[in-house]
Amino acid sequence: MQLSRGKAKTLFTVKNQPQQLIMHFRDDTSAFNGNKIESIPGKGRLNNLFNHHIMQHLRSHHIATHHIQLINDTDSLVHSLTMLPIECVIRNRSTGSLCKRLGIPENQILDPPLFEFFLKNDSLGDPLITKSHILTFNWATRTQAELMKSLSMQVNRLLLPLFQQAGYILVDFKLEFGYQPSHPNNLFLADEFTLDGCRLWDSNTLEKMDKDRFRHNLGNVLQSYQTVATQLGIPHIHPS
Ligand code: C5P
Repeated sequence: MQLSRGKAKTLFTVKNQPQQLIMHFRDDTSAFNGNKIESIPGKGRLNNLFNHHIMQHLRSHHIATHHIQLINDTDSLVHSLTMLPIECVIRNRSTGSLCKRLGIPENQILDPPLFEFFLKNDSLGDPLITKSHILTFNWATRTQAELMKSLSMQVNRLLLPLFQQAGYILVDFKLEFGYQPSHPNNLFLADEFTLDGCRLWDSNTLEKMDKDRFRHNLGNVLQSYQTVATQLGIPHIHPS
C-alpha cells in the first residue's frame, strides 16, 4: 500500500513487516520547490543503485542508516522511522543558496565546513533555521539536534575522500534523519544520498555533475549521473 509520495520517491508499506518500508525511486526530477518538474527516464534506477552504494559505504563505517537492502533496480527496503522535519546541509565550497543569502563569491573553500539546518516545509520554501528555533518549537530535542550535526560532519569526513578518489569535489549535500520511537536518541541517516541532493564538481574542470545540470538546463543529466556512478565503481549502472 502506498504510504506517501514525495517529489522523486514513493514509500510503500510492507505486508506483515510494520517496521519496514519500500522506497521506490521514480524518474521524476524536480527543482525550485517543485516549480520545475520533468521525468528523466532511467534516473530512478540510477539513484536507487547510487544511494545503495553510498549507504553501504557509510554503514561499513558505522553510520546507522535506514537502508536495509536493494529489492530491485528501482526499489530499496528501508527501516520505517519517525522523521525529524529538518534538512541538514553541509557545505565544503560556497555556491547555491549560501551565495545568494550572504553575497559570498562562488567556489570559496569553506574550512571548517559549514553546517546549516533548514525547516522541511515546502510552502515556506524550506527556510534556514537555528538550533534555537529547533528547541523552542520542539522540532527536535537538544540531543537530536547535536547528533544531526555530528553525524552530518562524520558523513562529510567519510564521503569527501570517497568522491575525491573518483575525481570529484563534494561541494555540498543535504541529509535527513529519523529515529525509532523507542530510541529517540539513536538517529538513523534516512531519505537518500544521490546526485539529486548533493553538488559534485569534476576536480579538474569544476564541471557540475549533479542536479544543477537539471536546475540550470545544462543538459546531459543522466549521462553525468552515469559517469559519476562509473567512476565510483558502482556495478550494473548501465541501462538494462
Ligand atoms: O540550495 P542550497 O544551496 O541550499 O542547497 C544545498 C545542498 O542541499 C545542495 O546539494 C542541494 O542539492 C541540497 N538540497 C536538497 N534538497 C533541498 C534543498 C537543498 O537536496 N530541499
